[in-house]
Amino acid sequence: METPDALSAIFTRRSIRKFSPRPVEGRMQETLLRAAFAAPSAEDAQTRRIIVITDRDTLDSLPALHPSATPAREAPLAILICCDTSTAPQTLFWPQDCAAATQNIMLAARAMGLGSLWCGIHPVEAREQAFISAFSLPGMVRPVSLILIGYPLQDFFDEQRWNPKLVFLNRWGHPFEPSGPTE
Ligand SMILES: Cc1cc2nc3c(=O)[nH]c(=O)nc-3n(C[C@H](O)[C@H](O)[C@H](O)COP(=O)(O)O)c2cc1C
Repeated sequence: METPDALSAIFTRRSIRKFSPRPVEGRMQETLLRAAFAAPSAEDAQTRRIIVITDRDTLDSLPALHPSATPAREAPLAILICCDTSTAPQTLFWPQDCAAATQNIMLAARAMGLGSLWCGIHPVEAREQAFISAFSLPGMVRPVSLILIGYPLQDFFDEQRWNPKLVFLNRWGHPFEPSGPTE
């Protein structure tokens, strides 16, 4: 398998909604988790907590908890990203911390040829309650995102979204032009 460089992984990661049932190797699972913990967090608080889901019955139960989790019936792996809001230091930025971990997992997945789908949980209260109950999360633990992961049955591709009209230089409304030294 050819491993894309970091920028290719960023540009060609796509939400994958069709997965092969082929299991994800243990060393790849660990790399995904290491990528999550490598993500930045406000004040380096690292309050993220993670549940790795490989049990077939549990994977099959996910569509009942989340409207977009139907592909979990084929996917061999899901990762639930939570925040323990009872630990210190605690900051207001825990949703972003969990989002950064989610994105790191998805980019690491892409780099290893795995597909992934981000199923948003927080701040949709009904979804949070469904996961708190199904996974017996302790009182101060908040579920933030569910990531479905597996070998993709869809292609990765680069989708051009770059729109310089949405970028300003130094102040709002002033068109952006790249500046600085040329290579
Ligand atoms: C915070 C967040 C929540 C998301 N929640 C869902 C979701 O619940 N269901 C879903 O199918 N996709 C979800 N997505 C994936 C987006 O729909 C997807 O990233 C977007 O359509 C762009 O497609 P791409 O991932 O292929 O670039 C979520 C993405 C983010 C960043």
